[in-house]
Amino acid sequence: MRRSGLHPSIESDYEAMSRRAAEVILQSLREAPNLLLGAATGSTPTRTYELLAEAARREPETFSQLRVFKIDEWGGLARDDPGSCEAYVREKLLRPLGVTDDRYCGWNSRPDDPPAECARIEQWLAEHGPIGLCVLGIGVNGHLALIEPGEALQSGPHVAALTPTALAHPMLAGSRTAAKFGLTVGMRDILTSRKLLVLVSGERKAGQVRRLLQDPVLSTAFPASFVHLHSDVLILCDASSANWHTFTQWPST
Ligand code: PGA
Repeated sequence: MRRSGLHPSIESDYEAMSRRAAEVILQSLREAPNLLLGAATGSTPTRTYELLAEAARREPETFSQLRVFKIDEWGGLARDDPGSCEAYVREKLLRPLGVTDDRYCGWNSRPDDPPAECARIEQWLAEHGPIGLCVLGIGVNGHLALIEPGEALQSGPHVAALTPTALAHPMLAGSRTAAKFGLTVGMRDILTSRKLLVLVSGERKAGQVRRLLQDPVLSTAFPASFVHLHSDVLILCDASSANWHTFTQWPST
């Protein structure tokens, strides 16, 4: 049997995947009320965050110490641009969960000095990290956060050159200005999180799921492959992104 900290699970559909993901986050919060949640944005975690918002209406005290860290951002967009990760995190997480600014850290999307902004985030993580539970999606190009495929990976927070695939992300379709670069945590920041929760939904991600589970080879051309280095990864897929053959080959855990 292959030894791996990666636990894949297929849920029947997007709703079921989101319910399971929300339950995992709630469980982590019950175990550690001041959890530092690494928050991915994009379409995949949206329903999960809505379910957390419903939980917060029922039991606001569960979220009273929660801390949120926005793992990436589109550089060059205004903070309130509807396509920015900032606008998403504020609307989907901070407001509904009642997370106050002192319990939140996020990238400035328009820094005067991007390397200095990376240093600020690095310092913040050194003081307040590590991330307790990092919610991640996988890009159609295999990226994690905005760690893009390439010849090399950077360990810490960095400015990323965006691939055409990332620039075609639906989040940017309605933005007022074009993204110029990515601002993202590095692979070390992801891998030092206590737990990773990777969410994958939709047929367009089926190739990435197959690649992740059938070719567990680390490659900077496929940043998501690096989750194999982590000892506690739950990957939740909905049926349309999963290929049963891939899963039946994976040892049960
Ligand atoms: P998505 O984005 O959830 O909108 O598919 C994921 C990503 O590109 O990282």
